[in-house]
Amino acid sequence: MAKYIVHQSDPLKGEVVISGAKNAVLPLMAAALLSEETCIIRDVPELRDVAFMREILTSLGSEIEELEANTISITTEDILSTEAQFDLVNKMRASILVMGPLLARKGRAKMPLPGGCAIGARPIDLHLKGLEALGAEIIFMDSYVEARAGGQGLIGDTIYLDFPSVGATENIMMAAVLAEGTTYIENAAEEPEIVDLANFLNKMGARIKGAGTDTIKIEGVKRLGGAKHTVIPDRIEAGTFMLAAAISRGHIHISNIVPDHLKPITAKLRECGVRIEVGDEEMIVRGDLGPQSATDIKTLPYPGFPTDIQSPFMAFLTTVEGASTVIETVFENRFMHVSQLRKMGASIETAGNKAIIKGNSNLRGTQVMATDLRAGAALVLAGLVAEGTTEVSEIYHIERGYEKFIEKFRGLGAQIEKIEDC
Ligand code: EPZ
Repeated sequence: MAKYIVHQSDPLKGEVVISGAKNAVLPLMAAALLSEETCIIRDVPELRDVAFMREILTSLGSEIEELEANTISITTEDILSTEAQFDLVNKMRASILVMGPLLARKGRAKMPLPGGCAIGARPIDLHLKGLEALGAEIIFMDSYVEARAGGQGLIGDTIYLDFPSVGATENIMMAAVLAEGTTYIENAAEEPEIVDLANFLNKMGARIKGAGTDTIKIEGVKRLGGAKHTVIPDRIEAGTFMLAAAISRGHIHISNIVPDHLKPITAKLRECGVRIEVGDEEMIVRGDLGPQSATDIKTLPYPGFPTDIQSPFMAFLTTVEGASTVIETVFENRFMHVSQLRKMGASIETAGNKAIIKGNSNLRGTQVMATDLRAGAALVLAGLVAEGTTEVSEIYHIERGYEKFIEKFRGLGAQIEKIEDC
């Protein structure tokens, strides 16, 4: 399997441009199923997950073209199948996002039950609760689940989400846009990716209000047209490079960002002593101005501290003055990177969803394994400052969600290379 070889590097310096958001483009692509007209999406990051979603949409009847770099058109004149194939869905949990659009447009959707993954069981009970509330009949058979709308199609209703699930909010929103009547999603997820999806759907002719708040109102319409849309910048990629400047005590200019989306990360890094100057669509992050100190992190749904930045931030906390705590409240098993950081010499104690990180660890390079894409990024960050060389395996996780990962880090002076399958 391919690996990254990360050598202890000088403080990172230079400019990095952030790509379109993985967690925005995947629901946007699924939403294109809702119209028989052409949708054009710009700033599409070149990622394995985008390639997987492209395969799934094509298997359902979409025609997808790359109009130019990072711009695709999706045209689904007719849905040829309402069943997502097992081998495709099994590769990516976000495949579940085609369920709402298929149900809305064709009245049926059959999906293999997505497996859990390293960070948790990741059930879809809230997705199904929402679709059922819209009048769909949910049928389980073997390892599949099928949703079937009644003869009169989906009917709007009020749905309360027990947890503000990002995926469930997106799936229900996409099912409700063509339903009869009005739907309210209460305790909805408020992530920027939800707002981006609502903006795209409204451009297609949907009538959605309240995206970005905990209550979203969707008035059903008869049909949706095509639309053009540019994906929002990836706040998690941006956060990863903010941490790269912090951990390496470097000086990085990060452009193509929405600063508002990064507020929790900016606030916590400033608490540690990292200097951050924020512009309209850019920021300068300086980890080279004075000592960095400990802080406490608690991950929460947006606008709280993002769970996807928890592991990269923990890598940084192993290098600062003093002891920090990290509490993970979103996923039940998102400390898989702790054992790998310990292998590098970090001193981290965990009890349930709480970790205590002793600072001033003299990290040493060794062989480590990425367990999810953000944990993989965290191990690369640690490798930049660890003595010697760090070999990161299972890097397919990282390449699912970070466009031009190696090139962007090398562009900042990181000593990192990829060795192909050994
Ligand atoms: C999205 O996953 C993101 N993925 C994740 O990013 C992100 O970590 C997560 O939201 C939280 O912000 C994409 O957008 C493609 P959830 P999603 O439904 O939608 C539980 C990355 O690294 N839950 O908000 O799957 C679930 O088990 C990835 O880019 C239920 O119990 O997240 C979890 O504990 C990782 N029942 C919590 O809610 C359900 O029906 C949050 O899950 C759905 C979710």
